[in-house]
Amino acid sequence: MFISEKAPAKINLTLDALYKRADGYHELEMVMTSVDLADRIDLLSIPSSAILLESSSGLVPQDEKNLAYMAANLLRKKMGIRRGVAIRIDKKVPVAAGLAGGSSDAAATLRGLNRLWGLGLSLRELAEIGSEIGSDVPYCVYGNTALAKGRGERLQVLPTPPACWVVLAKPTQGVSTADVFGALKVDKVKRRPKTSQMIDALYRQDYGAITRLMGNVLEPITMHMEPDVRKLKEKMYQFGADGVLMSGSGPTVFALVDRESRAKRMVNSLKGFCPQVFAVRMLGNLNKTKQNVIVQA
Ligand code: C5P
Repeated sequence: MFISEKAPAKINLTLDALYKRADGYHELEMVMTSVDLADRIDLLSIPSSAILLESSSGLVPQDEKNLAYMAANLLRKKMGIRRGVAIRIDKKVPVAAGLAGGSSDAAATLRGLNRLWGLGLSLRELAEIGSEIGSDVPYCVYGNTALAKGRGERLQVLPTPPACWVVLAKPTQGVSTADVFGALKVDKVKRRPKTSQMIDALYRQDYGAITRLMGNVLEPITMHMEPDVRKLKEKMYQFGADGVLMSGSGPTVFALVDRESRAKRMVNSLKGFCPQVFAVRMLGNLNKTKQNVIVQA
């Protein structure tokens, strides 16, 4: 049997770190949404009990260090499964980019294996298992638009932003999420995103307010490590972006643009400055999840 799952990239409309917890993680508040740029995860039943993994990109581990492999292994252990699987990752989302590419691969592997092995687990149960793999995995199990709190595992489903285009630009150098959080001093943060106002703007479907309220406390830190982040931000505004922000711990910078023609022109203008540039649509509510449901993984 063979199953295919999409693993979309996410962007942060907001990212706030409230304080550093005793376990070393930061207590976060983030509004995240998915965009139409996705890896494809193919899962194939095999006669042996092995987990085999290959990826179209040499930039991700092809062994047990890959988050998709870890997800399959953990699910097997938790559910007492002996069957093996061949995992193939067709990689389209930039790596070490702040777009949750690896977490989304892990989440898609959990969703796909739940079907392949007929486990009948709910998204909530898959998200709970996923939280042991990485902080963004629970969100990626659900996708769509959500407020994530805690380490990232406490989720509240939000309305999807109004239809628009997202231009993504990833500087050559990736950054380590742990390094960026490691350099963050929460008590020294100068500007924080107004998360509750962003949530109101999503409920009102107020595109202008959404573009104005975007904010990420990690942006100044990654900008310091990777000066291309600032340069790309300036260029995107210069080329007509409605709003620009770094996603996650970066270094990918995204622009929201209301029209396709403008998004395509921005991509052409940015190509000279940045090797990886995409214009994609904001993703609509794919899973038709009930609005405003609190989902605690
Ligand atoms: O959970 P994950 O392995 O994706 O996190 C990567 C790193 O990001 C962690 O080791 C930690 O340094 C940092 N992090 C954090 N607070 C969070 C999530 C991640 O400090 N809520």
